[in-house]
Amino acid sequence: MQSTVLILLVGMAASTSAAALTPKSTSYAFKLVAKEDAGSPFDGQEVTASQNKLWLSQPMEKQDTDCGSGPVDKAPATLFLQDDELFLFGGEGKSHQQLAANVSGKEHESLKYFNNTKDGPGQDFETKGWSLKPDNQDEYLSFNEAVMLACPASDDSFTVGVYQDYDRGCFELKARVEYNYQPVSCKYSGN
Ligand SMILES: *[C@@H]1O[C@H](CO)[C@@H](O)[C@H](O)[C@H]1NC(C)=O
Ligand SMILES: *[C@@H]1O[C@H](CO)[C@@H](O)[C@H](O)[C@H]1NC(C)=O
Repeated sequence: MQSTVLILLVGMAASTSAAALTPKSTSYAFKLVAKEDAGSPFDGQEVTASQNKLWLSQPMEKQDTDCGSGPVDKAPATLFLQDDELFLFGGEGKSHQQLAANVSGKEHESLKYFNNTKDGPGQDFETKGWSLKPDNQDEYLSFNEAVMLACPASDDSFTVGVYQDYDRGCFELKARVEYNYQPVSCKYSGN
């Protein structure tokens, strides 16, 4: 409890000074951490981004995030919200990788990111509807009223998705927000 309060206080001080210097979007950049829940196989893990999807427990050799000085090991996805749209942080004024969701699509294909300078998300996907929902001292990423999911992939990793229900071999995911006031800009693999 005490450390939570301390983090909140430090966070508030940082947000005041950061907000004065930088545009709103990047002063609120964050990563996502799976909330510890009994029985889920990805407790406390950070969400990564690769090949147009978000992942949990992604094997190190498949983490291919490019953060300037070459691929870095275990770089979590750095995200920010602008109104109700969600982006991967690609640098001040040049974030073009945007998240899109379809809550009634197939679980493994219900969430993706795309390069919004090239084209739209595809006709089955929506970009608006993201928010952060407070719960006790924390905040969690939310897409409209959908459940966030982690669905097993072939290699012990999980793809992150959004859905209306989750009784098909997927786990409910509570994606807790951890703010990062000095975000590293990265390019995430995909098209
Ligand atoms: C997005 O597409 C543009 C145009 O093709 C390209 O210059 C840019 O590098 C791409 N951004 C990312 C993050 O891949
Ligand atoms: C989501 O995907 C389903 C099935 O692929 C499609 O029928 C539906 O129109 C999509 N929803 C949206 C909002 O595009």
